[in-house]
Amino acid sequence: MLKNTWLWLGRLFGRLFLTTLIVGLGGWGFGSLYYNWKFSGPVPSEEVIPPGEAALTDGIIEDAIRIVEQHRDNTHVLRDAHAKAHGCVKAEITVLADLDSSLQHGVFSEPGKTWQAWVRFSNGNAYPQFDRARDARGMAVKLLDVPGEKLLGGTAHATEQDWVMFNHPAFFVRDVAEYKSNFSAQAEGKKILAFFPSWDPRSWELRHLVIALKTLAPAPESPVATTYNSIAPFKLGPHNIKYRVIPAPENCPDYNVQQANRDQPNFLRSALYRQLSLDRVPACLAMQIQRQDPSHYMPIEDPSVEWDESISPYETVASIRLSAQDFDSREQNVFCEELSFNPWHALPEHRPIGGINRLRKAVYQAVSVYRHERNRANGTP
Ligand code: HEM
Repeated sequence: MLKNTWLWLGRLFGRLFLTTLIVGLGGWGFGSLYYNWKFSGPVPSEEVIPPGEAALTDGIIEDAIRIVEQHRDNTHVLRDAHAKAHGCVKAEITVLADLDSSLQHGVFSEPGKTWQAWVRFSNGNAYPQFDRARDARGMAVKLLDVPGEKLLGGTAHATEQDWVMFNHPAFFVRDVAEYKSNFSAQAEGKKILAFFPSWDPRSWELRHLVIALKTLAPAPESPVATTYNSIAPFKLGPHNIKYRVIPAPENCPDYNVQQANRDQPNFLRSALYRQLSLDRVPACLAMQIQRQDPSHYMPIEDPSVEWDESISPYETVASIRLSAQDFDSREQNVFCEELSFNPWHALPEHRPIGGINRLRKAVYQAVSVYRHERNRANGTP
């Protein structure tokens, strides 16, 4: 009797296992076929602006200002995203001496030229939380004394060229419409609706949920030990490109980043401080670009899709050096808080393209102006 029960249970679990395996493999196969079909080229090499985008942008600005107010630190208003800085450091960015002539545009038009810059490292969250919390990590670069008319006009950032990146290669929404519905759901605390907005399975954004979960990753050992991506596309002269910054320790003296004590709330700032300020060892990174090949599925209007590196490999265009320096002073931290980075602080040769970048143009400006005005009125930096 006991033997029969065991045999019956064995058969039941065996069948359950087989069924799960077949359903799983079938789902995976079907998913692969579907995405191979959906994500096949060619794609436009120009921007395609959907109707109604501008109206959605206005709504997103209102939501962003609401979030800024919700997350303020007493009376002090922080950034809407990437509120916590690990430090603002001085950097030298040198254009590759033998840069391919087809890539010599904008700030890369003079091979061997060195630009002075500020770099701000950050956590992605709107709250300045412990570094051990899963999160995206940001790197924002501001090249200084860059001549030439900029895309935003005005005098405030007239000599700046910015690059604003974080350390995941894909964005968790495809366009402004999806950003609006996702952001509104999250702002109302209805997180499940962000990726599953209705009962209709066609509206479910499972792939984007996976990207969002992967973006919220454990921290690297140091802000200089991870790869930062533009995610969204840009112009580089006549090319459509994405860019990224990778660690390039081979260009600097040997240095072992020590294992961080992840119970410390600010271990990323500590790692940067130990390397640059205590051990006085510079950190090296490299800037790379990836060209769009529109005959393949490398869309401009969907930054949730990575451009295939086996089709279009990244090419190095410049080296970045953070020299040994003292950056963790009150003055420099206040200065860092006041800085505004914006992908549209740019020469026309580096114009941001695609819906998410068009959205960022209005939102970064509006939030930056708002937080500076609010803080000035309160007498805080
Ligand atoms: C490609 C996708 C994106 C990347 C790589 C990115 C990255 C970053 C980074 C690194 C910062 C911090 C800049 C600093 O250090 O000051 C930042 C700030 C910010 N981001 Fe994004 N972001 C992206 C998309 C968006 C989108 C879609 C929005 C909203 C529509 C947004 C809104 C903001 C705002 C409001 C700030 C603060 C601006 C300020 O107050 O100065 N970002 N972003």
